[in-house]
Amino acid sequence: MENQKVAIVTGAGSGLGQAVAVKLAEKGANISVVDISEEGGQETVKLVEEKGAKAIFIKADVSKAEEVKNYVDQTVKEFGTIDMFYNNAGISGPGTNFVENTIEQIDQVIGINMRGALYGIKYVVEVMLKNGGGAIVNTSSTAGLVGQQTVGTYSATKHGIIGITKTIAAEYAAQGIRSNAVAPGTTETPMVAQFLERNPEAAKNSVDPVPQKRLGQPEEVANTVAFLLGEEAAYINGAVIPIDGGFTAI
Ligand SMILES: NC(=O)c1ccc[n+]([C@@H]2O[C@H](COP(=O)([O-])OP(=O)(O)OC[C@H]3O[C@@H](n4cnc5c(N)ncnc54)[C@H](O)[C@@H]3O)[C@@H](O)[C@H]2O)c1
Repeated sequence: MENQKVAIVTGAGSGLGQAVAVKLAEKGANISVVDISEEGGQETVKLVEEKGAKAIFIKADVSKAEEVKNYVDQTVKEFGTIDMFYNNAGISGPGTNFVENTIEQIDQVIGINMRGALYGIKYVVEVMLKNGGGAIVNTSSTAGLVGQQTVGTYSATKHGIIGITKTIAAEYAAQGIRSNAVAPGTTETPMVAQFLERNPEAAKNSVDPVPQKRLGQPEEVANTVAFLLGEEAAYINGAVIPIDGGFTAI
């Protein structure tokens, strides 16, 4: 389906980004693996190449506009275009009630999750407009649909991601660009799994409110992202899809 397509995946060195990079590679896309972590990024390049696709690693801190412009420029230089953009890099912040956050902590979460995502959309859409369209998926969260204690700034940025997702969908639909978001609930990426293993109480609290009584798996998010980025989702634009076992349904 994605033969010869070119995808940028940010935060591709771990977790959801890595799972999406591998899934898109399985479907035949070539991947720009963008991450601040060289080690994680190179691991993903290897996994993508094992699927028979091409991959390049581009080191970038997405909170810095010039580094975002660079990953977009490098992708076009290497692969000629950008068909798909998984705008995903993010951090959750310190995990304390809001007023306990320092100004630096608030700024860091906004810088990576919100400014980083906006810079990515700006530069990628500029390329997609020149090249006749494309598809974008942004990573929101169930914390972008409802509030969540101890991650207030994170929740604010993930609500913001939904605003830009819908705006881009409306502004550029006529030029062939689609923009959607996924809103995962707690998903067992390696880091989350390790944390919950060390904190059985937190693990119980994460699962209890989920009607399906289990956490999400990275592959379940990757399946949805690959679908939204592909032709089968041609008439889905401006949607926010919870992948949360029913958590936000009640
Ligand atoms: N795992 C979950 O439960 C969950 C749930 C909802 C939403 N999300 C969102 O999904 C996205 C991915 O999360 P994950 O769970 O895979 O986390 P993760 O920590 O496993 O992966 C995040 C990746 O982003 C990279 N990164 C961090 N800061 C960066 C920066 N400034 N510039 C470039 N790369 C940077 C990290 O190096 C890492 O490889 C995030 O936006 C997160 O908020 C995760």
